[in-house]
Amino acid sequence: MVRNIISERGSELPVSTMGKLISIAAEDKSVISLGPGEPDFDSPKNVIRAAKRSLDRGYTHYSPPAGRLKLREAIAKKLSKENGVKATPNNVIVTSGSTEGILLALMNTIDPGEGVIITDPGFLAYKPAIELLNGVPISIPLKEEEGFQLSVDRMQDMVIPEKTNAMILNTPMNPTGTVLSKKTLEEVADFAVENEILVISDEAYEKLVYSDAKHISIGSLNGMEDHVITLQTFSKTYAMPGFRVGYACGPDNIIKSMSKLHIFSSISAPTVSQMAALEALKGPQGAVGRMVKEYDRRRKMVIRRLKSIPNFFCMEPKGAFYAFPNISEFGMSSLDFAKFLLEKAKVATVPGTEFGSHGEGYIRISYATEYGKIEEALDRIDRVVSKI
Ligand SMILES: Cc1ncc(COP(=O)(O)O)c(C=O)c1O
Repeated sequence: MVRNIISERGSELPVSTMGKLISIAAEDKSVISLGPGEPDFDSPKNVIRAAKRSLDRGYTHYSPPAGRLKLREAIAKKLSKENGVKATPNNVIVTSGSTEGILLALMNTIDPGEGVIITDPGFLAYKPAIELLNGVPISIPLKEEEGFQLSVDRMQDMVIPEKTNAMILNTPMNPTGTVLSKKTLEEVADFAVENEILVISDEAYEKLVYSDAKHISIGSLNGMEDHVITLQTFSKTYAMPGFRVGYACGPDNIIKSMSKLHIFSSISAPTVSQMAALEALKGPQGAVGRMVKEYDRRRKMVIRRLKSIPNFFCMEPKGAFYAFPNISEFGMSSLDFAKFLLEKAKVATVPGTEFGSHGEGYIRISYATEYGKIEEALDRIDRVVSKI
């Protein structure tokens, strides 16, 4: 028999229930999936053309680890103009999606045993990323009755001074659809400065905000430029998840050090994707507006429909493309409820516990799926839950 050489790090990574549910949904054509975490739209045509053109022109080589200069210039301009985040090409690094940006940022800020604050519920990749680096995730519960906004008081109680180096902040938030308010962000900023904590601000859904909500980059707040790494991505805004391209902007020394590490993770983000990303930023922006408008149309329908289903309670999500209804009245765990919907209604959703133990009592519904399919899925859910 072959000796088991899989590291504890690898073998202890959690097996995602979401992955399993999505595979079942993909195999059974009668299932409608409200599981996806990626846009259902194709990438804009001008972006695809730019990618093809750059391949024909021989952009098939490595790029500099920090990213191509022209792209970093365009990103710095975008961050300064649209987000109020002071940026120059020297404090920007282009990464293979923000997933790699998160990992590089964490690699640079924590040593084994050091803490990183995250939210519960929160994006499911944060905790394993911290644990892979032998860091300690410090989960701050979010409460529905507080609009899933982050409570700094609660955070204060859980932080071990000098052992907590960083926090990952996510707005608009996956899975709750919360857009953090200016008040919350100002409190977090004061807390971070007082406790010398670096804020890793994951703004993957920055453009997907609706109604009266406004996205604010915490890096734009007074005095925060030395305390924040801002992470954004082309995956959601431009429907380009398969291109694997995102970027981070932060203090020069941290970005320099991330670029050094980048050589050992992927050398550089894919060159063809960087050329496509440059077109996405510099070319026409009409596609973004159209996608946001369509997400908003679906969002309104989802909220209206969920409100009409007995025992479903859903706070109005104002960002990203998720609703996070409370299903605790049904007396089943989140996992059992998601399984029930999959078996009886043939609708795939994600149990709230995938996003942390405080996601118990909720399911995540994604509206990154065609309007008609979402309607049909909600009809089916309505029918089966009325029989419980
Ligand atoms: C909050 C959040 N951050 C980051 C990512 C990953 O994005 P990327 O494709 O840029 O790696 C996702 C993807 O679902 C996400 O939901």
